[in-house]
Amino acid sequence: MHAHETTAATAGSPVGSARDWWEQRYAERDGIWSGRVNAVLADVAAALAVGRALDLGCGEGGDVVWLAEQGWDALGIDLSVTAIERGSRASVSAGVDERTAFVAADLARWETAARFDLVTASYLQSWPVEIPRAEILRRASGFVAVGGHLLVTAHAAPPHDDLPAEMQEYRFPTPDEDLAALQLDDAWEVVAAELRPRTATTPEGDPHEVLDSVVLVRRTR
Ligand SMILES: C[S@@+](CC[C@H](N)C(=O)[O-])C[C@H]1O[C@@H](n2cnc3c(N)ncnc32)[C@H](O)[C@@H]1O
Repeated sequence: MHAHETTAATAGSPVGSARDWWEQRYAERDGIWSGRVNAVLADVAAALAVGRALDLGCGEGGDVVWLAEQGWDALGIDLSVTAIERGSRASVSAGVDERTAFVAADLARWETAARFDLVTASYLQSWPVEIPRAEILRRASGFVAVGGHLLVTAHAAPPHDDLPAEMQEYRFPTPDEDLAALQLDDAWEVVAAELRPRTATTPEGDPHEVLDSVVLVRRTR
């Protein structure tokens, strides 16, 4: 397990590196995400044959654990050591740790010789410290096996009304922008590049509408 430093892309930002910012965020409380699988991933993966999966920016491992429960061998990568430790513990609790691995690393630099049947990124978005997201996604397309899929799910609009000031500046990606960022050649087919509305639940249990950008592509050769 190794971790790297990410340089803050926000000039003059007082918050330091993206890794520091995310560590701070995870340290605020035990478990900042629900631990449940993201709906788009569950929907997409249900239609695929199980194999090897890679989760980019896996956070506390909800998607990795779910994938392993469905029979996938799943590897999660995240900048935050705290998040990675939580993911590892969650996979032990779920009894799927033999099919999961978690690595703390910066995806802008992380390398692997492995190829995956599914590479997924759920809300790999960072504010107020930006990350080289387009570059990370473009590099990640190189980790997809022939016949495999790359799924990029992103908030296409603010996920809740109560936006902190630093988030007001954040530009949410469109499906076309995320697809263009991948710079795919003709070895790929586009399965979907679309906006999908979804009903989410606030921590208080209230339902509200959110909008996801979903890009699903398949490497054909
Ligand atoms: C909005 S959270 C999403 C977490 C998880 N995918 C989920 O859906 O619950 C974004 C995650 O990306 C991670 N992240 C941000 N930049 C990263 C980078 N350069 N390399 C690896 N992980 C990164 C953060 O630490 C954070 O856990």
